[in-house]
Amino acid sequence: MRRIAQETINRVLEEADIFDVISQYVDLKKRGRNYFGLSPFRSETKPSFSVAPEKNMWYDFGSGQGGNAVQFLIEYEKISFSEAIRSLAEKYNIEIIEVGDKEQSNLYDKLYEIHNLAFVFFKNNLSNKSGKKAKDYLMTRKFDDSIIEKFGIGYAKDSWDHLYKELNEKFDENIIEKSGLFSNSKKGRIDRFRNRIIFPFYSLSGKVIAFSGRSLSDSDDVKYLNSPETLLFQKSKTFFGSYQTLPEIRKHNYVLLVEGQTDFLRLYEKGFKNVLATSGTAFSSKHAEALNKYTNRVILCYDSDNAGINAAIRTGYILMQNGFEVRIIDLGQDLDPDDYFKLKESDNNSFKSLIKNAVHPINFIINKKNILEKGASDKSKFVNECIEEIKLVKDVIIRNDLIKRLSNEMGVVESEILDRFENIKVKRVFKDNKSNESDESGNHYNSKADRAQIEIIKLLIHNHSYAPNLDMSLFDNKLCYNIVKTIKDNVGKYNNVAQLIELVGESPEERNLVASLAIDIPEKSNEEIILSDCVKTLEDIKLKKEISSIRNQIRIMEENDKEMDNDLLRKLESLQKKVL
Ligand code: UTP
Ligand code: MN
Repeated sequence: MRRIAQETINRVLEEADIFDVISQYVDLKKRGRNYFGLSPFRSETKPSFSVAPEKNMWYDFGSGQGGNAVQFLIEYEKISFSEAIRSLAEKYNIEIIEVGDKEQSNLYDKLYEIHNLAFVFFKNNLSNKSGKKAKDYLMTRKFDDSIIEKFGIGYAKDSWDHLYKELNEKFDENIIEKSGLFSNSKKGRIDRFRNRIIFPFYSLSGKVIAFSGRSLSDSDDVKYLNSPETLLFQKSKTFFGSYQTLPEIRKHNYVLLVEGQTDFLRLYEKGFKNVLATSGTAFSSKHAEALNKYTNRVILCYDSDNAGINAAIRTGYILMQNGFEVRIIDLGQDLDPDDYFKLKESDNNSFKSLIKNAVHPINFIINKKNILEKGASDKSKFVNECIEEIKLVKDVIIRNDLIKRLSNEMGVVESEILDRFENIKVKRVFKDNKSNESDESGNHYNSKADRAQIEIIKLLIHNHSYAPNLDMSLFDNKLCYNIVKTIKDNVGKYNNVAQLIELVGESPEERNLVASLAIDIPEKSNEEIILSDCVKTLEDIKLKKEISSIRNQIRIMEENDKEMDNDLLRKLESLQKKVL
């Protein structure tokens, strides 16, 4: 194996997130700025192993050892340096460049360089005469020179290949292609950004890694155009403005999250500097993970139109599920933060009071969706939906807090919510894994048949001796069928749940279902009773299905005046006897 090039090593060290890496092995709890856990290298009862996300390092107070993510893996996994680098490179999607690899050599350096040249080029365009139109636009939108300078805003001219002509001599084809700055068209290679205001994205170390361009022409269908995903730019975890505002976010220990660049710039300009923008409303768990290193408190300040409200609800749940304290600002009728400050009555103080009055997501949903004015059935549906989301909250304290809040706000006793909490469990596993097949066929885990199948699987997970005698035709839920079949086919071939999970591992739905069920260990003494009850339930359901199908056939024959089939009648009769 060839040696890994230094630039790959550097990039791995830059990208690898120490918290992310170590929390896979060690249970970490936040204490002050750092995280603490029990040392994975020694046995101890008081946590003395610490992780400092801001420094991207770990330190074991007990043994005095410490290091970065790579060293942690080497120590923990007992692997070589290059194995550790390769494993992290894979985790973070970093292309490995080996020494002597001409084609790829300096790939990252070159990509940073091309972005930097494009950045300078766009900036110059804006200050040149030819950029007057763009400058005027920014002025009418009240973004002044200090903001333009601070965020490196630029302009891409109304030309097919202005940037391409500037850069194509300087870089290899490979870099041009991988930069994401150009598109291929019938005209050949053209600039991706044309006639747009350019907002750069920066890495946390301040290098330009991508751009977002706002159209200056109203006839353009695409208002904002972003760089595509590249080796430098991963959208699912990048925020606009993080390089400039993360220190402010740390200082305030909360972030104002907005939908886009102009909202971001407006809040920043008004002095609310602990702000970040996603590109639009797509917010992922990865965003939450990235944010978690700086603060665990978020105030959402999305557009107040319907789309914005729904996005705020979605993002609110994702954040709470990832351990964040969330509040949501309501800007009023169809406004975004930029519009808000155009109102005569708006000023810093009015926005401060909006922040102060920001509400908890549960209250936000109840208000916005008028839940309290609805009928009992809709209220009940809402409570169930809410519980499904709360189920996904990993932190027990946050979860309990949400249950309390839901119970208070809805005027439903907590024990009722808790009851539902237990019952909704399995259905959520299903939905969460987006296994829509059974959903479409009308199967839900809360049907009697599904519950019986699930109970049987729970028993089998801990005691597969029942498997060989089970009648597979009872399992009409495809997921359940597959799991039972796997258990049946592998009796004697596995020793524990981990191995079973490996066997069903090909399908994530099946794996997750088995894992989620494996946590509840059934009462040993009742096993046989539960099993026979469930089997009986399934047999009844199967019988009833057969009966109704025969009845249907008979009805159709009658409707068509066909001669009655005696065999069918006899069969119906014998099935009906069985039900009794
Ligand atoms: P909006 O449509 O709300 O635009 O999109 P805006 O922020 O109010 O922008 P202005 O004030 O009209 O200039 C919000 C964000 O969604 C992303 C952009 O990041 C934008 O800032 N977006 C929007 C896109 O990526 N593509 C689009 O076509 C539109
Ligand atoms: Mn706007």
